[in-house]
Amino acid sequence: MEQAVTDQLAGALGLDESFTHDGGGGGSIQDSASSAALVALTAALHRAAPDPGSGWRARGVTGRERVYVTAETHSSPAKAVRWAGLGSDGLRTVPCTPGSRARDPAALADTLAADVATGLVPVLVRATVGTTSTGSGDPVAALVTAARPHRAWVHVDAAWAGVAALCPEHRWVLDGVNPGPGHGVDSFCTDAHKWLLTAFDASLLWVRDARALPAALSITPAYLREAHSDSGAVVDFRDWQVPLGRRFRALKLWAVLHGQGLSGLRAHLRGHVDLAAELAERVRGHDDLELACAPVLSLVCLRSRSGDAATTALLERANADGRVLLTGTEVDGHPVVRVAFGGITTGRAHLDVVWDVLSARS
Ligand SMILES: Cc1ncc(COP(=O)(O)O)c(C=O)c1O
Repeated sequence: MEQAVTDQLAGALGLDESFTHDGGGGGSIQDSASSAALVALTAALHRAAPDPGSGWRARGVTGRERVYVTAETHSSPAKAVRWAGLGSDGLRTVPCTPGSRARDPAALADTLAADVATGLVPVLVRATVGTTSTGSGDPVAALVTAARPHRAWVHVDAAWAGVAALCPEHRWVLDGVNPGPGHGVDSFCTDAHKWLLTAFDASLLWVRDARALPAALSITPAYLREAHSDSGAVVDFRDWQVPLGRRFRALKLWAVLHGQGLSGLRAHLRGHVDLAAELAERVRGHDDLELACAPVLSLVCLRSRSGDAATTALLERANADGRVLLTGTEVDGHPVVRVAFGGITTGRAHLDVVWDVLSARS
């Protein structure tokens, strides 16, 4: 079921066949994008030093392994780096292109080259499509081009935005992900539990090499041995994740896919993108509110024109109202209010409530 559902979803999203179980790679359903980040890093560490006798699995980390993020990246790779024992030096924050919130590919190329010259080992480049704070996206294809000479694993975290690829007009979220000249990442993650009508937990992780995760993670004591696994006839998902046991997450995802159909899922996503566009329009026309950055898909970041203190007060007042729960973030060091449409039952009535709360004069 898990193989069938992830293959089917890969096709519906527009992921290349090489991400499917039939195509040599495959999808798995993890509990969260954070776990996906950890297993991707584990596979990357193994690929960087694969010798089972003397490589990473035998000797652990050396302190020279590096993982590349930006200041806009979610905190999950930092946590994965901690779990993997790389130390805080293991995480390299590469600057964004000036004036943007997207990683500068030239800066990444320079950092990688400088690190290699000093004996460091680039292990993984984390690219984000749809950052948590503002929905910004890294130029994935250019990052792949920079990472490829160093054989660093490229993991795309599209935890929130990735499901939008179900809609042809939003398929740009896959730019650079599929293989092609200078393209093609090693792993791609998106959470069905964020914006795809699926109850927590259901984080989809696709890899383009089905052997990569088992090579790093497989351990088979006598009590786990059985003929179908030994013969390779089945995919042992215990070798694709942190825990041994696992939930039957594919069933609920199957129910969502078949209950809604692609047309239902697209209508759900498009409805939220439309609500965000409408909220953005209302913000543009308001005397005291302004957009902190261009809205992305169903996310709108806004603030008070009266400054940081007023924005912080706006967020506190909105949440104290009791009808909405909004999150805050910082953009370029300034507080911002985030409105993300994504809940299973979130609709037009909620836009009106949120607007009522935000547009009320203090
Ligand atoms: C871009 C991004 N990546 C990763 C995560 C972590 O997701 P999870 O809760 O599935 O670990 C989030 C959650 O907010 C996110 O926005």
